[in-house]
Amino acid sequence: MTKLSVNINKFATLRNARGGNNPDVVKAAIDAQLFGADGVTVHPRPDERHITYKDVHDIKKIITTEFNIEGNCTEQKFVDLVLAVKPHQVTLVPDALNQVTSNHGWNTIEHKAYLTEMIAVFKKAGIRVSIFVDPVIEMVEGAAQTGTDRIELYTEGYAKQFEQGNKEVAIKSYLKAAQKAKELGLGLNAGHDLDLHNLKYFSQNIPWLDEVSIGHALICDAIYLGYENTIQMYKRQLQ
Ligand code: PXP
Repeated sequence: MTKLSVNINKFATLRNARGGNNPDVVKAAIDAQLFGADGVTVHPRPDERHITYKDVHDIKKIITTEFNIEGNCTEQKFVDLVLAVKPHQVTLVPDALNQVTSNHGWNTIEHKAYLTEMIAVFKKAGIRVSIFVDPVIEMVEGAAQTGTDRIELYTEGYAKQFEQGNKEVAIKSYLKAAQKAKELGLGLNAGHDLDLHNLKYFSQNIPWLDEVSIGHALICDAIYLGYENTIQMYKRQLQ
């Protein structure tokens, strides 16, 4: 079954708005696991505008499920953090320094040599590697040549089309990319803008999907529906 990794960055955004430690992001990670999440994701950025490097170390101490750290490995600070914390998985994302959120996948052809080198560094430390890619066959093929264990399909395009009522169109390129990944022996993750409306259709069409990481929509839903209930509702979409 597809695993649900809860991205808890938004807890840190809220905490940082006031200083202090409310809400407590370590508790948010503990509770996500208690409420049924299969893993916890964080996306520390070099400016530490939401998750801080200290948070990442603190969360590592309490993780009993899967810990996934996302970020851009062109920042040496990020590489050092990941190698020190040793999460189960690192997801490499080509996001710019001041970008609000990730908005594209790697060009795995142009950056093949660089990715191959970085992936080897993390794998040598025993960390599973996933790289963020758009649902484009050439990018999946390029990814397979870098030595990555998995790819994470960037699902914003799917979510947008789905919202407009074009779900068959929305899933098309993702299905093809996912089939290519399977054929090439790559594990498969997905994330970005997945929510309670679009998640089921995505996972039903791509049942070999290993993991989704969901943050923004899940935390927004939790405000109305409660954190435990929301995690359970997302889990049900993946059954
Ligand atoms: N995957 C990656 C690589 C991301 O950068 C993000 C956003 O931090 C997500 C998944 C989760 O996206 P969302 O917050 O829209 O669920």
